[in-house]
Amino acid sequence: MSTARGVPPSLADGLPRDISVAAHEIGLLEELTEDARQLGFGPPASLESAIDKRRREYLAGRISASHALRRLLGPAASQGEIVGDDDDVPRWPEGVVGSISHGAGFGFAAVAATDRYRGIGVDVERVVSAQQAGRLGARVLNEREMSLRQGGGGLSEEEMFTLVFSAKESAYKALFPRYRQVLGFSDVELERREAGDGDAGCGELRLRTRVAREGGAVRRLVGWYALTGVQADEAAGGSCMWAVVAVPF
Ligand SMILES: CC(C)(COP(=O)(O)OP(=O)(O)OC[C@H]1O[C@@H](n2cnc3c(N)ncnc32)[C@H](O)[C@@H]1OP(=O)(O)O)[C@@H](O)C(=O)NCCC(=O)NCCS
Repeated sequence: MSTARGVPPSLADGLPRDISVAAHEIGLLEELTEDARQLGFGPPASLESAIDKRRREYLAGRISASHALRRLLGPAASQGEIVGDDDDVPRWPEGVVGSISHGAGFGFAAVAATDRYRGIGVDVERVVSAQQAGRLGARVLNEREMSLRQGGGGLSEEEMFTLVFSAKESAYKALFPRYRQVLGFSDVELERREAGDGDAGCGELRLRTRVAREGGAVRRLVGWYALTGVQADEAAGGSCMWAVVAVPF
């Protein structure tokens, strides 16, 4: 049984133990504000004039981050807010890399120690419609990536589009804080997808990118994904893609 608070077991159970994850439903603002207060922070002054949706997403992301940090470092280590820098990159405590996402009714965060990974990126997204996948497919996926639909745990075109999109966004969020390099979808490639044992909806990923800051060297990344029904925000229906990407040494 996974102890990763709020995260689907199909994702959490496949992750290495040195990556700590947590998720939190994007509920009502009052409830989120109270949950945040109990963790030692409140809505930031910078969001005072932001719309309700943005404040709720921000808080659900920060609450997830706080729980993930507590799991990694212990309860005393994660008091207070994780502020963003000028590029909106979260500033983690010394010795920690991590990432925050909000989508499909959830905040989601992952953290790990800097001596284990160079970076961590996460994404949670609602699976797009067949029309969206058709319209945007060629901008996000190349033909090799599309062929990864086949094999263990075959995925529909829209699920594969969402997986590649999520994995590339996660890779970007794992790489940017360290290298400060803007990447397009064609700069990161999903090389391999391995479906989990007997489960079509989860598995592992291998990605690669060229890092200009390292003289164009190819850097390989590892990832994990899970496809779940949407538990929050039921009214909109559909399913939800969760992705975690890590930059190993
Ligand atoms: C930064 C970006 C990846 C965020 O993705 P998103 O789907 O819009 O939003 P998510 O909810 O998943 O993530 C938002 C969180 O990412 C974090 N974030 C923002 N910019 C970031 C960056 N440059 N690097 C790492 N993390 C970042 C923040 O914590 C933010 O939440 P917050 O503002 O509440 O703190 C996206 O907006 C972007 O700029 N993409 C351009 C680059 C790209 O997509 N290239 C193609 C893939 S290689």
